[in-house]
Amino acid sequence: MVDGPAHCGACHTPKTLLGGDRTDQYLQGANLQGWSAPDITNNRRTGLGSWTADDVALYLKTGHNRATAATGPMAEAVELSTSRMKDEDTKAIATYLKSLPGNRDEARLAPVDANVMAAGGAIYRDQCSACHGIEGKGVPHLFPALAESTMVHSNDPTTAIRMVLRGARSVGTKAEPTAPGMPSYGWQLDDRQVAAVLSFVRNSWGGAAAPIDAAEVTRVRSDTALRND
Ligand code: HEC
Ligand code: HEC
Repeated sequence: MVDGPAHCGACHTPKTLLGGDRTDQYLQGANLQGWSAPDITNNRRTGLGSWTADDVALYLKTGHNRATAATGPMAEAVELSTSRMKDEDTKAIATYLKSLPGNRDEARLAPVDANVMAAGGAIYRDQCSACHGIEGKGVPHLFPALAESTMVHSNDPTTAIRMVLRGARSVGTKAEPTAPGMPSYGWQLDDRQVAAVLSFVRNSWGGAAAPIDAAEVTRVRSDTALRND
């Protein structure tokens, strides 16, 4: 049923060179050219480990929950498919995702450079905390709780970077028609500052993820400048 109408694996499972699914990394996150789809297994660090099954079901039904909001290709999947499912189907998908252990042998992460954390923290307090909260808790259904967003901790940070550079509008659904938006910072913050603030966000409030370097932001900036999605 997870491989039913919305084909979660089509976007969330990495592909082999020949375009088949990497079944050993089923639903552990993939790059879609211009977007990254996060790990949606129950992995504690990169996946849905801190969400309840109800959080997952609510997200699929409404496009929002206390942790995050659906945007880009996922907004479409919610709009055209999951928001129209019966509650028992979104619940069944949620229960299934919560049963997947995900990657069990991750490399240990080195602590992030203290200067990067300090610089990123200062930008966060100035520019981001008004909406996402000083403790990364956000406002349920309005502003994502970055502390609990899988998008934030994704091994592939493409989506988080592009959202900071270009801003984003989340999906509006019948259940939740208001679609909160995120302003763009691409004109205001340079690549080093975007890298620092996201490295800070990825490694605060109990979260951990590899830091982002400026070159990665430069890459996303030039890739997405050429795209209109
Ligand atoms: C067309 C591609 C596509 C399809 C199909 C798709 N997703 Fe996604 N999904 C994405 C992308 C890209 C993101 C990241 C953007 C975002 O968070 O809104 C995402 C984000 C998510 C998140 C949010 C994680 C977070 O913390 O922000 C969950 C949960 C999720 N998808 C579950 C599913 C499930 C379950 C299905 C199948 C019913 C599915 N997706 C189908 C592309 C897709
Ligand atoms: C005016 C309120 C506002 C401000 C200020 C703001 N954001 Fe956001 N942010 C949002 C909203 C709303 C979303 C969800 C948008 C969507 O999904 O389309 C979001 C989404 C995100 C996401 C993706 C999280 C997820 O789960 O999908 C990241 C990462 C993020 N913001 C980081 C930042 C950073 C870093 C800053 C400061 C440089 C910042 N935001 C400033 C409102 C804001």
